[in-house]
Amino acid sequence: MTPAACVGDHVDAVASPALVIDLDAMERNLHRMADFARQHRMRLRPHAKMHKSAAIARRQVEAGAVGVCVQKLGEAEALAAGGIGDIYISNEVIAPDKLARLAQLAQRVRLAVAVDSSLGVDRLAQALRVAGSRADVFVEVDVGQGRCGVAPAAAGALAQQVIAHGLPFAGLQAYHGRAQHLRTAAEREAAIRHAVALARAAQAAVTAAGVACPLVTGAGTGSFALEAASGVYGELQCGSYLFMDRDYADNEPTPNAPRFEHALFVKAQVISRGHAHAVIDAGHKSHAIDSGLPRVWQRELDYANGGDEHGILRGAALPALGDTVWLVPGHCDPTVNLHDDYVAVRGGLERGTVEAVWRIDARGCVR
Ligand SMILES: Cc1ncc(COP(=O)(O)O)c(C=O)c1O
Repeated sequence: MTPAACVGDHVDAVASPALVIDLDAMERNLHRMADFARQHRMRLRPHAKMHKSAAIARRQVEAGAVGVCVQKLGEAEALAAGGIGDIYISNEVIAPDKLARLAQLAQRVRLAVAVDSSLGVDRLAQALRVAGSRADVFVEVDVGQGRCGVAPAAAGALAQQVIAHGLPFAGLQAYHGRAQHLRTAAEREAAIRHAVALARAAQAAVTAAGVACPLVTGAGTGSFALEAASGVYGELQCGSYLFMDRDYADNEPTPNAPRFEHALFVKAQVISRGHAHAVIDAGHKSHAIDSGLPRVWQRELDYANGGDEHGILRGAALPALGDTVWLVPGHCDPTVNLHDDYVAVRGGLERGTVEAVWRIDARGCVR
C-alpha cells in the first residue's frame, strides 16, 4: 500500500486515516522513563509488544534500556531482523515447532523466555540442546492476575529444574496486568502491594531451594513507581508510557510518578457533514476499541462508533467538511497492530513535518 506520507511532507499532506507519532512528545516520554529508571537504579526493558518497531526499540536502547520485551516469538523474530540484539519473550512458548524457532533465534540474538511448567522447561531444554543454543529462563509467578505463572511456593522447584537442565536461571517474571488499569491510585497500590508480597514469597522459595535469584522483572505504565519502590523488583517492563493511550490517561495519577503525554494519534478527515454531526474516515479498522472509544484531541467533540470505517462526531463546534481531526486511541497496542507504518512528525501536529516513516515490523506477528 502507498505510505500515508513521505519524509519532508508538511503534516497537512499526511493522508488519512494514518497512524501518526508526535516525535517531540514521544521523545519526552522516552527520556522521562529512562531518567526514572536511572534515578531508581532499576534496569529498564520496555515492552516492544506495544510499538512493534525496531526503529523505536533502537531509540529505547540508545536511551539506556538493556533490551526489550515481547510477548510473541514472531515479534522477537521481527525485531531481531530489524537489528535488536537483546530480547526477552515475557511469555510461555510450549509448541515444539515454536521452540525449535526460538532455539534458532537464540543463535542470532541474546534471548530470554518465561516458563511456568515442568513440561515447558523440558521442551525448552530439549530444543536448545538440539540447536546447540542458549537462552536465559525466567520462572513466571502469578502475582494476582490469574493468568500465566506458578504459585509462589512452586517457583523453587521450577528454578531447580531449569538449573538441572544446565540452563541459566535469570530470575522471576512477576507482572500484574489487570492492576495497570485500575482507575484509582489506591486500588493500584493495594493490588501491587499484594503482587510484591507474592513476588517476595517466590523469591524466598527459590532461595530456599538453593538457587540464587538474580532478578525480579515486571511492572507496566500504570504501576511502575510502586514496583520501583518495593525493593523486590530490579527491572521495569513498561510499554505504553511511550505513546500514552486514552485508557491510561483516564487513570488517576500515581503520586510521585512521572507523567506522560499523548504521542500516538490517528489522523482523520471529515468526509460527510450533517447539521448536527460530522462523519470522519476513521472507524475501528483504524483504532482498537477494546478499551473504549478514542478521544478527539483538543476539541470539545464526542466520538461515537460509526462502524468499521466511520466515526461520528457531535458537539458544539463541529468541524467542516474536509477538516482534519486527531484521535487519541483508546488502547495503543492493538491500534498499532492495525497499521503498516508510523508517520513520525517533528514540530507538532499543526505545523510539523514528516521526519520518518517507520514500518511496523512486528505487525500481525501473533505466532
Ligand atoms: C508481561 C508484560 N509486561 C509488561 C507490559 C507493559 O505494560 P504497559 O504497556 O501497560 O506499560 C505488558 C503489557 O501488557 C505485559 O504483558
